[in-house]
Amino acid sequence: MDIKKVSCVGVGTIGHSWATLFSIKGLDVSIYDMSKELLKSAMERIRFSTNFLAEKGLITEKEASDALSRINLTNSISECVKDSDYVQESAFESYDVKREIFSEIDKANDSTIIASSTSGLLMTEIQKAATKPERCIVAHPWNPPLLLKLVEIVPGKKTAQMTAQTTYDFIEKLGKIPVIVKKEVPGFIGNRLQAALWREALNLVNEGVASVEDVDKAVWAGPGARWGIMGPFLTLHLGGGPKGLKYHIDTIQHGFNEYLKSMNDWKEIPYHAVLKAFAGLEQVPMIKKKSFEDMVRWRDDKLAKILKIQE
Ligand SMILES: NC(=O)c1ccc[n+]([C@@H]2O[C@H](COP(=O)([O-])OP(=O)(O)OC[C@H]3O[C@@H](n4cnc5c(N)ncnc54)[C@H](O)[C@@H]3O)[C@@H](O)[C@H]2O)c1
Repeated sequence: MDIKKVSCVGVGTIGHSWATLFSIKGLDVSIYDMSKELLKSAMERIRFSTNFLAEKGLITEKEASDALSRINLTNSISECVKDSDYVQESAFESYDVKREIFSEIDKANDSTIIASSTSGLLMTEIQKAATKPERCIVAHPWNPPLLLKLVEIVPGKKTAQMTAQTTYDFIEKLGKIPVIVKKEVPGFIGNRLQAALWREALNLVNEGVASVEDVDKAVWAGPGARWGIMGPFLTLHLGGGPKGLKYHIDTIQHGFNEYLKSMNDWKEIPYHAVLKAFAGLEQVPMIKKKSFEDMVRWRDDKLAKILKIQE
């Protein structure tokens, strides 16, 4: 299946970034959100992103303006998706909202692939709202989808193999790194790993082991620097010396068992711990000095450099 026309339904943080990516890759893009104001704000963010890419020399000025000219705005979902080959839904993270949108898309276009950006909801539940559930799938990006390469492809129980393959190929053609989640679990792969780390980061702050700023540093300046090029398995394999992961497990990892025993196993994040994190975050020098927009720019500037070495 040749995907030429795509739609983005919901163009907040994630949707506008998908729309930017699709348009700079030469696709015709139709975007929908609930009001003219939201669409206007999405277009401003898309313009900001294309300018950023042009400034970084990742695309030319002409490519940036051509990308903007390929985007159409509409306040009607059916209008947005009616002649699309692929729809990327990026609305609020709620089964009710997603089911309502999937049902509307399903009625307006009977052949398009309908992909959700959900961070962890199950497609098996969302696709119940569609008369053709076989073309519904999760394509979960990482923020910002314009820059980060990973996209988790997660079929629901009724998703056709052909939908999974076409989505995988499409995402790969966009220059992304797709992975297939073979068995549906909430949070897929990346967010489950992120949740495990987040729980312990909060626990360390809550227990007064370290400040928010130092826990963050202990991630990005330490293991996080390796994670930009390797996952946990290869990292430990190389950490075990020439005898690799087996040596690591046999000789070093007994320490991990001790750490695990002393960790918190919260099944729900307690709000009193989050309040401590909020207070700690206010003390972080960058938060005190920079506006939110400046921090996003700082992040994207650094990310663009990291992504160059991931190629
Ligand atoms: N923010 C992240 O880091 C991130 C990363 C990956 C995936 N996601 C997922 O992407 C999706 C969107 O998240 P976000 O962070 O962009 O949220 P957001 O709040 O920035 O944007 C959501 C957009 O959806 C629109 N919307 C809400 N209800 C709608 C409806 N009924 N019909 C159509 N549009 C509707 C809103 O107006 C808004 O513009 C969620 O499913 C989220 O889990 C988020």
